[in-house]
Amino acid sequence: MVQAGGSVAVLFGILRLVPNSCRKLGYSPWRCSTAIRRPMTDLFDFKNRKLRFAVVGHPVMHSKSPQIHEAFARQCNVSLSYEAIALDPIAFEQGVRNLQAGGMAGLNVTLPFKEAAFGLCDEVSERARIANAVNTLTFLGGDQLTGDNTDGIGLVRDLQQNLKISCADAKVLVVGAGGAARGIVQPLLQTGPARLVIANRTASRARELAGSMGSPDRIYSCAIDEVSDSFDLVINATAASLSSEVPALPESVFHSQSHAYDLAYADQPTAFMRWALALGAAQAVDGLGMLVEQAAEAFWIWHRQRPQTAPVISALRSGAR
Ligand code: ATR
Repeated sequence: MVQAGGSVAVLFGILRLVPNSCRKLGYSPWRCSTAIRRPMTDLFDFKNRKLRFAVVGHPVMHSKSPQIHEAFARQCNVSLSYEAIALDPIAFEQGVRNLQAGGMAGLNVTLPFKEAAFGLCDEVSERARIANAVNTLTFLGGDQLTGDNTDGIGLVRDLQQNLKISCADAKVLVVGAGGAARGIVQPLLQTGPARLVIANRTASRARELAGSMGSPDRIYSCAIDEVSDSFDLVINATAASLSSEVPALPESVFHSQSHAYDLAYADQPTAFMRWALALGAAQAVDGLGMLVEQAAEAFWIWHRQRPQTAPVISALRSGAR
């Protein structure tokens, strides 16, 4: 009863307030058909409404995604806010649903949640399905979620457009067979390498990953200590860089024209980059360019605009080194 009485009082309060608030908005609720004095779009300023996005991970506070998306937004004249939010690993779904209910438009997903994000989606892109992981979530109406994976295309764009490294007819080695490797193998295959070898500390995971990609004539797998050839491009997709370690590859893996690419990035060259250069690789780069390119693809998914990535990469590099 008390609750019902309270509700009635609240209802009367609202009814009393409506005419005033509507007058402030420029129309009368009682004569809607004739009394709207300004177009609704002006009243609510839908065009300039700030869309809200975030990157979720654990940990995530180190993430450069807010800086990157804000730089893209300035370039493209998009009004948005973008935060870094740490979610509890044991309550990831609840965290995502809370952000969705709170009015977020989309999320980027980083470690360790990419596979869990895949599991939450109602629909996923083909590339997310192959990667079995999602790094870009878009909230649709109701509680619908779509997912995409922009990591692989981010790597390929960094290689081809920024670094001018062609994989066509090249011998490519991907080291690692975890989530990071899974996201990049199919997009790399599409660039037309002569052969793509996946080498992993645990050989069975490399075998499984290679087997799930099709193209048996161009994709091979082995244990890291079984690598015997040299490669034009060696991509470190292991978690070794996180502990400043280097996967135990033979020194002969590089020749004088080899490129070494570490998916990890840091303020200083990673252990893998330093090791590759010491062994005579022609070039060693980190994954900062990939990070910006994958963000640009997510920006395209959300805003249908393609920002320029080169100035953002340079700004991050000059801030970082
Ligand atoms: P991610 O999602 O970052 O790929 P993951 O799925 O845990 O994380 O995979 C980590 C990858 O790094 C695996 O390929 C792992 O090898 P194993 O499958 O044998 O565990 C690899 N890795 C981690 N530390 C490594 C190290 N010190 N040397 C070589 N490989 C390492």
